Amino acid sequence: MPQSQKILIAFDRTIADISDLVKDDLNCVNQVILNNMHSDVALIPQVAHYIIAAGGKRIRPLITLLVAKAFNYTGNRHINLAACVEFIHTATLLHDDVVDTSDQRRGQPTVNSVWGNETSVLVGDFLFSRAFQLMVQDQDLTVLEILSSTSAQIAEGEIHQLMRLQDITLTKHDYYEIIKFKTAVLFAAASQVGCLINQASPEQQKQFYNYGYHLGMVFQIVDDVLDYRSNQDSLGKTVGQDFKEGKVTLPIIMALGQADLEQQAFWQQVIGCEKRTQQDFAQALDYMNQHNVFALCYDIADQFAKLAYQDIQDCPNVIYKQALADLVSLTLARIA
Ligand code: IPE
Ligand code: IPE
Ligand code: MG
Ligand code: MG
Repeated sequence: MPQSQKILIAFDRTIADISDLVKDDLNCVNQVILNNMHSDVALIPQVAHYIIAAGGKRIRPLITLLVAKAFNYTGNRHINLAACVEFIHTATLLHDDVVDTSDQRRGQPTVNSVWGNETSVLVGDFLFSRAFQLMVQDQDLTVLEILSSTSAQIAEGEIHQLMRLQDITLTKHDYYEIIKFKTAVLFAAASQVGCLINQASPEQQKQFYNYGYHLGMVFQIVDDVLDYRSNQDSLGKTVGQDFKEGKVTLPIIMALGQADLEQQAFWQQVIGCEKRTQQDFAQALDYMNQHNVFALCYDIADQFAKLAYQDIQDCPNVIYKQALADLVSLTLARIA
């Protein structure tokens, strides 16, 4: 990476350090999550506990809490709303792993691989419904409008992606549209609701919505790079899953953009066909490395990160502003 980009991420703060700033609130969020997993149908808390206790980075609720605090919030609405955001996220994971036929999540077998697709979909529905109950308890129609339209957009993003599986004609613009909807809008909503509960102006809400949106774009580009470059132990998910499914993400788009005729034929054949082998994956990685694709993806993610830093320029509290900026840098640093 060029040195100028390194400077942006040259610090050793971890997500745990940032979480420490709102440690008590995060504990309350976890308590709300636990309380709302309850059901007399024993399989529901069993499965919900299985996925939720496995951890996860909790980055979306963290955003809601940090933004609320960035406006010196003193109430308690941010706790339920952060839990609500994590419920929406967890529900989408339960659905996404069925759609993606994934077998590893958060360092353990996925719910669909242990209990089957039906259970994963239905417990996902339960968690979605709990999220809506939490929104209703909050009694703010604007929050309901933001989070319900976000849930619809996530589904739209996932379905858009499904329609373009194995489609090598997917452009960078199409890809941005897909990841905006399936991922970035939830980051945006998590940030906006943290801002909104402070009676922030529409302008401030827009800035913080954009912060979440740009961070979400960084987050998904990073996730898509890690799908090629990471290892199962640190990722907690199967590496090469996107390629296996024929999902066209930024690394493939960037590799295709520089491919010679022979390589173009490779991508067309390998992505277009029903199944991809380990050998195909090794060849794909080789072409990606030849063209420095991962550095190019880093640069694109870095551009979104810079927009996220700009979005919080007017953040009222300097400590939380720094934490929000560090969250962006840390996300980007996963592929540095
Ligand atoms: C996974 O999100 C889904 C994506 C948007 C890539 P996370 O990477 O935040 O998943 P957990 O919650 O930490 O497991
Ligand atoms: C995540 O996309 C999007 C949602 C969960 C809505 P991915 O399919 O890349 O997420 P992972 O890699 O399975 O976590
Ligand atoms: Mg997936
Ligand atoms: Mg992924």
